[in-house]
Amino acid sequence: MKINSLQLTNFRNYKKCQVQLSSGINVLLGENAQGKTNLLESLSFVSSLRSFRINNESQLIYFDKEASKIKCELEKTTGLKSLSVVISKEGKSLMINDTLIKKSSNFIGELNTVLFEPSDLGFFEDAPRVRRRFMDMELTKLSSSYLSHVNSYSRVLKQRNALLKQLEFDSDTLDILDQQLINHHIVIVKNRRQFIDFLNTQCNNYFNQLSKAKANLKLIYKTDVFHENDNEFKKHCLEKLKMNRQRDLYFKLTHFGAHRDDIVSLFNDIQLSQVASQGQKRLVILSMKLALIDYIHDKLNEQPVLLLDDVFSELDKDHQKKFIQLCPKDIQTIITTTDLISLEYINKVITIFDIKEVEITLRRKSIE
Ligand SMILES: Nc1ncnc2c1ncn2[C@@H]1O[C@H](COP(=O)(O)OP(=O)(O)OP(=O)(O)O)[C@@H](O)[C@H]1O
Ligand SMILES: [Mg+2]
Repeated sequence: MKINSLQLTNFRNYKKCQVQLSSGINVLLGENAQGKTNLLESLSFVSSLRSFRINNESQLIYFDKEASKIKCELEKTTGLKSLSVVISKEGKSLMINDTLIKKSSNFIGELNTVLFEPSDLGFFEDAPRVRRRFMDMELTKLSSSYLSHVNSYSRVLKQRNALLKQLEFDSDTLDILDQQLINHHIVIVKNRRQFIDFLNTQCNNYFNQLSKAKANLKLIYKTDVFHENDNEFKKHCLEKLKMNRQRDLYFKLTHFGAHRDDIVSLFNDIQLSQVASQGQKRLVILSMKLALIDYIHDKLNEQPVLLLDDVFSELDKDHQKKFIQLCPKDIQTIITTTDLISLEYINKVITIFDIKEVEITLRRKSIE
């Protein structure tokens, strides 16, 4: 898929902005605090309906304005689509073409972006919830049914925890909630596992192409109980909940479930966060993004849009070059940078935009 144009109104520091993007590589070039990341944030927001920087959406609205709007024209294998999101203090409203979309699950993933941003570098050190959010976000963009399982799981988990807090608890109700929780749990775990298994193989391949020093990289979905057979899987999970029940009642919390799972990452069989250098961690993350692009392409039969925020700082020229070479040829890419020198070697179609005080000007379009 390809974004043809983007229009922002009162989004972050943009009062009004319109930009026509090209296929190939689009470079957003500008000094600090000019609005480069803001622009990527707007596209990533259309994709996932979440900001990768903040939870409070009102910060996305230009200071002292009532609402902001992001509109983009998208070219997909199924045809042209216009997507728009209006963010106001009361919430969001969504449109595809001229139709109002009530359920966000019918909007999320229409534009599918793969984003690299500097805080991704903490991925392996961050709390497990960050890695669970990554899996859920990516899977949600590809399947509205996955999203509905995640939402139902959270609802049942809340009910279960509330019940555990009651002084006189009803064990029949708890049994029913356990059944419901596990029904969603097994779908979530199977999807996440299949996703991580795919990333694992591809990520290892990409890493060993990107990095001079070879390593054996492993990503493993970590969960307490698993079985290939659904009935057995369900049975073992229910047993686990039963086994934990006294502890759950004591702490008034559910100790087992998809909300406790994680991704384990091993670098030559040792926990990655403990042995990999900063540069290696960056290469692992980039390899993961390349693997993610493959996964999305596999599911959608078209490329997502690649958003790269400040990706090249701290990477030497060789690695920069290799990374660009490993990106699929036909993927639309939007890169922010403060410094054009680092992009000299790119021998793909590139379009450069200067961003200065929220004015975006097309500088040059160079064809390979
Ligand atoms: N809600 C808002 N209303 C108006 N301006 C905002 C809002 N939120 C952020 N800004 C402004 O946006 C600017 C930062 O934009 P952005 O983060 O996109 O910069 P950048 O070009 O990516 O810079 P860097 O190269 O440092 O990463 C800051 O000047 C900030 O004050
Ligand atoms: Mg920035």
